[in-house]
Amino acid sequence: MFCRVKGVGLNGMNAYPVDVELEMSRGLERFDIVGLADVSVKESRERIRSAFRSSGIKFPPASVVINLAPADVKKVGSQHDLAISAAILDAIGEVNSDISDSAFIGELSLGGEVRGVNGVLPMTISAKNSGRRRVFVPKENAREASVVSGIEVYGVSTLKELWDHLCDREKIAPMPPYVPEAEDYDGALDFCDVMGQAFAKKAIEVAACGGHNIIMIGSPGSGKSMLAKRIPSILPAMTFEESVETTNVYSIAGLLDKSQPLITRRPFRSPHHTVSTAGLTGGGTIPRPGEISLSHNGLLFLDELAEFQRSTLEVLRQPIEDQKVSISRASGTVTYPCSVMIVAAMNPCPCGYYGHPTKKCVCTKKQVSQYLSKISGPLLDRFDLHIEVAPVEFESLSSGRKEEPSSVIRERVQRAREIQNRRFRGTGITCNARITSDILHEVCALSPDANALLKDVFERLGLSARAYDKILKVSRTIADMEGAQTIEKKHVSQAVRYRTLDRKFWANE
Ligand SMILES: Nc1ncnc2c1ncn2[C@@H]1O[C@H](COP(=O)(O)OP(=O)(O)O)[C@@H](O)[C@H]1O
Ligand SMILES: [Mg+2]
Repeated sequence: MFCRVKGVGLNGMNAYPVDVELEMSRGLERFDIVGLADVSVKESRERIRSAFRSSGIKFPPASVVINLAPADVKKVGSQHDLAISAAILDAIGEVNSDISDSAFIGELSLGGEVRGVNGVLPMTISAKNSGRRRVFVPKENAREASVVSGIEVYGVSTLKELWDHLCDREKIAPMPPYVPEAEDYDGALDFCDVMGQAFAKKAIEVAACGGHNIIMIGSPGSGKSMLAKRIPSILPAMTFEESVETTNVYSIAGLLDKSQPLITRRPFRSPHHTVSTAGLTGGGTIPRPGEISLSHNGLLFLDELAEFQRSTLEVLRQPIEDQKVSISRASGTVTYPCSVMIVAAMNPCPCGYYGHPTKKCVCTKKQVSQYLSKISGPLLDRFDLHIEVAPVEFESLSSGRKEEPSSVIRERVQRAREIQNRRFRGTGITCNARITSDILHEVCALSPDANALLKDVFERLGLSARAYDKILKVSRTIADMEGAQTIEKKHVSQAVRYRTLDRKFWANE
């Protein structure tokens, strides 16, 4: 007796179809699983046998061998229980319907309940892409799976329920497809709460328009955290593809909100400065996505940047550049995406008041430069804009003036992004911050006097080649915000104003 049932495997973000092949013969009673199954899969045997007993299904007193194909890929996790159980039910003649177009995902408890598993969204997408028309998933993951259109989703709470369904005794109702709610920014933090700070707000708007990384330097209480927390409210809406990509990361990390199966708001993550390297970039014995991947398609806020472990920050450099993190383990390499906008904030010196208009800084010159040198040059190079945030003036705080709401800023951001989308169509580049060096000069055409200004700045400040590229890209964004084709002198000079560290702190050393 031979039968085959479809399951799905998962390696990092990567879901792939698995065939559960069952061979049952008379002979010595045994139950084996082969096909590069790790310990967690082998333990399936005990769970399944016990779950069958608890559900009142007689386990076949025969020789049962399960092969998980393809046999050359290592299988981990407990999500194969349900597919293996379906194969056994089929072998003992308890399946009346055609299940060749169905995939099964889920873990069993000894008592026969179907437990939720991580990564149901990418596994359901894989099932659909490999031609399955139905997928059986744990009840608690059913809403998550129902995000995928074009495949029928059945939420299963017990093995008994699956048995009743497959032998046509009592059918499980399919999950209605999930229709994402319109994105709703009500109640989100809004820029209208921030009084004054026109310069910082403009710089942040530029960063949001071009997807640029930005670092803010200023004394405590100047409003850096307040500004950063409001950036998600002006970022362009997520596309459906971006939503699914981000949700996949959360699904794998097991962090998906059960009532909100599709993430439609760009993530905002703000890890504490005591975060470990693995916590920030991903890792662990069983690899998990880190904060940078949980921010995928959104924003990673590094508050008090100078307080982070230097070694932890250094590990960020590669992922920021590549927009992905690879983690190697004996069982293979997993890769998580991390296309993020990085926003950082820091004090200018240990006491926090270097450069403050009224309070006196008590640090020595050496202490100030030591403080800044906690952040390595190559890491700082990853920030396209660096701005100083001065404390808000009393007049701004007390003026009672209404500040511009995020919704208005967001419309401008959206417009600037549309220009970029048209420019980069078909290239895989998503925004100005990601312009590759091969097309940099073609895309960032300068007027003659803009070129002269940039040359002058480059020589006077002794800029690195990378800093030069960054200024060029930020100038491109500023020109886009005005709908200008060619980058003019004023755009370059505004971009240079957002390079505080080149001009002020580092230049003095
Ligand atoms: N421009 C501003 N408008 C309104 N409130 C402000 C402004 N700047 C600072 N504040 C107030 O000061 C508090 C401290 O700001 P915060 O963002 O925590 O400063 P920082 O992160 O720079 O130390 C804010 O929570 C807010 O109440
Ligand atoms: Mg703060």
